[in-house]
Amino acid sequence: MDYKIALIRGDGIGPEIVNEAVGIIDAVGERFGHTFSYTDVDLGGCATDKYGVSYPEGTAEKCRACDAVLLGAVGGPKWGPDRPAAERPETALLAIRKDLGLYANLRHATLRPALVDASPLKKETAEKGIDIMMVRELIGGIYFGKRGRYETEDRGVECTDLMAYSEMEIERIGRRAFELAQKRKKKVTSVDKANVLETSRLWRATMHRIAADYPDVELEDVLVDNCAMQLVRDPSQFDVIVTENMFGDILSDEASMVTGSLGLLPSASIGSGKPALYEPIHGSAPDIAGQDKANPIATVLSVAMMFKYSFDLSEESKAIEQAVDAVLSAGWHTADTMGEADKLVGCKEMGRLIREALKA
Ligand code: IPM
Ligand code: MG
Repeated sequence: MDYKIALIRGDGIGPEIVNEAVGIIDAVGERFGHTFSYTDVDLGGCATDKYGVSYPEGTAEKCRACDAVLLGAVGGPKWGPDRPAAERPETALLAIRKDLGLYANLRHATLRPALVDASPLKKETAEKGIDIMMVRELIGGIYFGKRGRYETEDRGVECTDLMAYSEMEIERIGRRAFELAQKRKKKVTSVDKANVLETSRLWRATMHRIAADYPDVELEDVLVDNCAMQLVRDPSQFDVIVTENMFGDILSDEASMVTGSLGLLPSASIGSGKPALYEPIHGSAPDIAGQDKANPIATVLSVAMMFKYSFDLSEESKAIEQAVDAVLSAGWHTADTMGEADKLVGCKEMGRLIREALKA
């Protein structure tokens, strides 16, 4: 079967890490007998430079014509918050998520065996293991609420960002989380701030209502501040964490760091139809862009998620994960996960090593 993949290379280290990920896709194709065709899609700061807007017309249609979308990273100081919204890369990222209806963002934080030393946690805590599926609501809440900016008489400028959630939005993300938990350790931690926020009280009530349909799954509520603390105290207690958009943004960076590096965490953004979008959770790292220093592993592992969730090819997906583990266990590391006894490699060499491991 031939799979069509849209490539959004993006800004900063985006093009470098996507290159290596494409090499991995092709290597999987060779080993397992699939073929892939690629369509480049301009989105982000690079699109602003080319067309004057970060989200050119027709972007969503180009993606919809493909079976899956792979995104590197977008953003950078050149297109900072002072630029008009249409020129900012983040505007485009939110727009593509919304236009493709990708309401569920799955961020899988696992401590790879070779990286116990790279984790900032105490060894005895890290060794208990980390395998968290963070399910972040992606197209609602404060990210997409009404914004306002106005002058006041006595307090200068005042701004508002509205956080809104409907039962429908909460229910569909909640069901995703319960279904994922059924295939894992059967525990859902719902994270909210129900002691303060009305949206959180609806969130909590909705989670408990639908929980009745998943009697085999345990549901617990944790307040977001407590969750941030528990993630560094004992992350082994978590299985599936489900939370709203902004809490999920913040907690997933924290979850990635406890596994050793922001450069390791993949994500899948899924809606009710085709295509889903796969991207590393890290940003465009402009400080190291173009220097062959970036860690391509989060993007490579995003490809593993693509094989599993979009193509239903679990064996291929596992092969990619095993290849990554084999390379790390052999002591090859990019600068971000290097330990004293490890051997330093760049982005390209890391990609080549993973391809080699895939052939073996
Ligand atoms: C992420 C990023 C984005 C987000 C930014 C770049 C808009 O931080 O994917 O986590 O907040 O969703
Ligand atoms: Mg983020």
